[in-house]
Amino acid sequence: MPPCRRNSDTCAGKKLAGDAASRVTSKTDRVKVQTMARGIVIYHSRSGNTGKMAEMIAEAMNGAGLPTECKPVSDVKADNLLDYDAIVVGSPTYYGHMAGPIKQLFDETVSFHGKLDGKVAAAFTSSANIGGGNETTIMGIIEAMLIAGCIVQGDPKGDHYGPVSIGKPDERVRRQCMRRGRRIAELTNRLADKKS
Ligand SMILES: Cc1cc2nc3c(=O)[nH]c(=O)nc-3n(C[C@H](O)[C@H](O)[C@H](O)COP(=O)(O)O)c2cc1C
Repeated sequence: MPPCRRNSDTCAGKKLAGDAASRVTSKTDRVKVQTMARGIVIYHSRSGNTGKMAEMIAEAMNGAGLPTECKPVSDVKADNLLDYDAIVVGSPTYYGHMAGPIKQLFDETVSFHGKLDGKVAAAFTSSANIGGGNETTIMGIIEAMLIAGCIVQGDPKGDHYGPVSIGKPDERVRRQCMRRGRRIAELTNRLADKKS
C-alpha cells in the first residue's frame, strides 16, 4: 500500500483525521504516524507591497502541498517559529537592511538559539529602487537564518537570493513569488519525507 501523504488521503480504507494533518507510512505490520510539515510566511509591510508578495508565496506553498500560514510580524511571537518546518521572512528594504520589527523577531530567537537548526528558510523584499539595497536586505535576513542553523536554497534560474519587487509587485514578481513558494514547499516536504 502506498504511503498516505495528505491529511485527506485514505489508508487501509480509513479516512485520516483532518486537523491532525498526519502522514502514515505502512511498513509490514508497523504503522508510523508523523505530523505533516508546515510553513509560515512572516512579513512587515507599511504600504502593502511586501504583504502582497507574502500572500503570493504562501499561496504557492499551500498549492504545492505544504500547509502554510501568512502573518504580519506583529502577530508572531519568536517562539511560534518553533512550530514550523519552513520559515519565510519578508521585509521592505529600509536603508539597505531589514525593517526593525523583523530584526527584533530574529533578536528574540536568542532565547532558544539553536532550536531552529535544520528548518528550511527563505527571504524576500520590496524596495523603491533598482539597486536600492534590496539584495543586501535579503542577504541580511539570510545571514540571520544561517546563524540560526536554517537551510536556505538559492535559485539558479529565478531571483537568486529571494524574490525582489521594485514598488508594487508586477507580473514578473508574481512569477518569482510563486516559483519561490513552490520550491520551498518541495524542499521542505522532501526533507520531511526523508525523516519519516
Ligand atoms: C524608512 C524607510 C527606508 C527606506 N529605505 C529604502 C532604501 O534604502 N532603498 C529603497 O530602494 N527603498 C527604500 N524605502 C522604500 C521601501 O523599501 C519601499 O517603498 C517598499 O516597497 C515598501 O514596502 P511595503 O509597501 O511593504 O511597506 C524605504 C522606505 C522607508 C519607509
